[in-house]
Amino acid sequence: MRVAIVGSGRLGAPLGRLLAMAGHDVFFSDAEPDRVTAAAGAAEGETRGGSPLEAARFGEVVVLAVGWEAFPDVVAELGTALGGKIVIDPSNPIAERDGAAVVVAVPGGLTSPQYQQHVLGAGVRVVRTFNTKYPNELLELGIAGQRGGARADMPYWGDDDEAKKAVVPLIEDAGFTAIDGGGLSEAL
Ligand SMILES: NC(=O)c1ccc[n+]([C@@H]2O[C@H](COP(=O)([O-])OP(=O)(O)OC[C@H]3O[C@@H](n4cnc5c(N)ncnc54)[C@H](OP(=O)(O)O)[C@@H]3O)[C@@H](O)[C@H]2O)c1
Repeated sequence: MRVAIVGSGRLGAPLGRLLAMAGHDVFFSDAEPDRVTAAAGAAEGETRGGSPLEAARFGEVVVLAVGWEAFPDVVAELGTALGGKIVIDPSNPIAERDGAAVVVAVPGGLTSPQYQQHVLGAGVRVVRTFNTKYPNELLELGIAGQRGGARADMPYWGDDDEAKKAVVPLIEDAGFTAIDGGGLSEAL
């Protein structure tokens, strides 16, 4: 599958690496081009790199591995390139204030991905997953699963059943057992 990684930082880089190891066609992108080079360099196999807009146009599935508060900027930058796409949202409502991580209150009594769905717009097919592991854990557990070891569970949530079905093979290929957690209203 063609997978775009928008945000090739601590989470996006190892996630893209796992998916590339499984044979997916991974396109790394970031606001900072050096991070694209680093992520592509760390990944085995053929990967691509470029701008976030090129990535979003390329991907059948787009992973938005950017900070929670960056979603409005992503919408402004990528706009129609995300229309109709399956977007994986791993973002947790955490922001940086004066160098410290702080939890952000999600407005409107929504869950985090319900809010991101609102920011992205109804035409974007949000699936929430890959938000429950630290990057080093994700990589270690994913590689173990890919090599035939015990598989860790990876929950996923969404309101679009077809989009959820499309994401399950990515979770499995990344080395995890995909666990359907229900709709976005039930998401962690
Ligand atoms: N790290 C974790 O333990 C962890 C675990 C689970 C889920 N998550 C979630 O995963 C997401 C990414 O976290 P992270 O730790 O990987 O953060 P990170 O290391 O800061 O990586 C995010 C990357 O996205 C880039 N970026 C920001 N705005 C962008 C834009 N509009 N277009 C393209 N690239 C953009 C950032 O560049 P700049 O630095 O130049 O802004 C940075 O390189 C967050 O939402 C986080 O809640 C993280």
